[in-house]
Amino acid sequence: MILSGKAMVAGVMGWPVSHSRSPRLHGYWLEKHGIDGAYIPMAVPPDKLEQALRALPVLGLRGSNITVPHKETALRICDTVDPLARRIGAVNTIVVGTDGHLQGSNTDAFGLIENLRESSAWQPGDGPAVILGAGGAARSACVALIDAGVETIRIVNRTLTRAEDLAGAMAPACCAVAWDEREEALNGAALVVNTTTLGMTGQPPLEIRLDALPRKATVYDIVYVPLETGLLAAARARGNPVVDGLGMLLHQARPGFESWFGVRPEVDRELRNFVLGDLRKD
Ligand code: ATR
Repeated sequence: MILSGKAMVAGVMGWPVSHSRSPRLHGYWLEKHGIDGAYIPMAVPPDKLEQALRALPVLGLRGSNITVPHKETALRICDTVDPLARRIGAVNTIVVGTDGHLQGSNTDAFGLIENLRESSAWQPGDGPAVILGAGGAARSACVALIDAGVETIRIVNRTLTRAEDLAGAMAPACCAVAWDEREEALNGAALVVNTTTLGMTGQPPLEIRLDALPRKATVYDIVYVPLETGLLAAARARGNPVVDGLGMLLHQARPGFESWFGVRPEVDRELRNFVLGDLRKD
């Protein structure tokens, strides 16, 4: 795409940022829709985040995605933060307002639920959900499931105090479960979401026997490298419906793209394959 002097520009800030798939993803949509715009990676060290964010309106950028490790700090810097991002405690999308102020939001919960709805027959009223992990990703998952109408969420984490803190913040739907009790926690569950890093390429495997899990329960892993984790392979082998994490990455990008470039983009098989081609190079 050859840009004009009126090109709309947005990007992603992270440290490092070279691992980010967002430039490829947004670049695909810009090309597909023939938009006079660009989406660029911006490597911003933590002590320069505020300066970099304040530079967005000065440089005429439309906004930015925010990735690791800046999501929590960005929430403190933004001039306005939407209530959902405040509940999650992190900002992943910033839109520069017409008067130059920074509006922070979080689209991770939207990405998770859109992907789940698109890829499975799971319904919020089906029964209890189990979330493995209690970090930032677990927090987004909790908010997404509560807002979708899930009544009971069991948060299982290696460090029990983190699970208790998260369950307390999300009360009354959530309870904390010790890591040693993760297999019992699957009893009667309708959904399991892995938000830990276990099972990711280069990380230890997620060790969990699925015997207690009902066979109709959906198993969702937000890890997407590899696309089929050990957890998903084991769940698939015993007949459970499974959902991989790539769709969440794709769906969470949609609201930002629409705000910056004025077109609501779609997630389709072609896009999945396009991003997948890049992941396979890892
Ligand atoms: P994020 O914000 O991306 O969710 P995080 O805050 O580092 O990342 O959380 C990673 C999650 O993976 C945590 O729940 C972590 O458990 P702890 O809270 O006990 O650290 C979990 N995790 C990482 N390595 C693990 C391991 N070897 N066994 C069990 N859980 C692990």
